[in-house]
Amino acid sequence: MQSDTAGKQEKTAQKQVERRTFLGYVIAAVGAFITTAVGVPLVGSLILPGLRGHQPNWVSAGPASDFPIGQPKAATVTVTTKDGWIEQQEAKGIWVVKHTKSDFTVFNGRCVHLGCAYSWQPSLNEFVCPCHGGRYSITGQVLGGPPPRPLDTLSWKLNQGNLIVQYEDFRLGIPQKEEA
Ligand code: FES
Repeated sequence: MQSDTAGKQEKTAQKQVERRTFLGYVIAAVGAFITTAVGVPLVGSLILPGLRGHQPNWVSAGPASDFPIGQPKAATVTVTTKDGWIEQQEAKGIWVVKHTKSDFTVFNGRCVHLGCAYSWQPSLNEFVCPCHGGRYSITGQVLGGPPPRPLDTLSWKLNQGNLIVQYEDFRLGIPQKEEA
């Protein structure tokens, strides 16, 4: 009689242990689900804006026919930059040299010395920077002054008659062209 009672108690205890184990699994599974559902979007939302900030900035410089062959012409492009959650649009200056209907050289509009805006001087046949007297040829080579490297060229392509430029800024004041 006593052993019967002991057996029943043992079975009941075993069932309780199994129930607790089952509940433990359920709680762990629900916890893992909640962690994944909340954590993955949160981590993604923190990381993705930063990654998106490094996407190439292809922007239109306008109809390719607007640029005269052989005569450098300034243009402004609107560039979207992202810093974390902050997105802003900036107007950036470029210089376009059109060689033929379908061949261009596009320069970043900042002097590579310290970043001043330079301009084309037709009478001198040179780009001239007003800040410290930097001078460049139509191909961007340094002719005089302190600029430590040629003008920074930008990638470009034609799309449905428009000149599309990959705008980038580069580090200033150093001999090699490096992403800023
Ligand atoms: Fe152009 Fe110094 S910024 S020469």
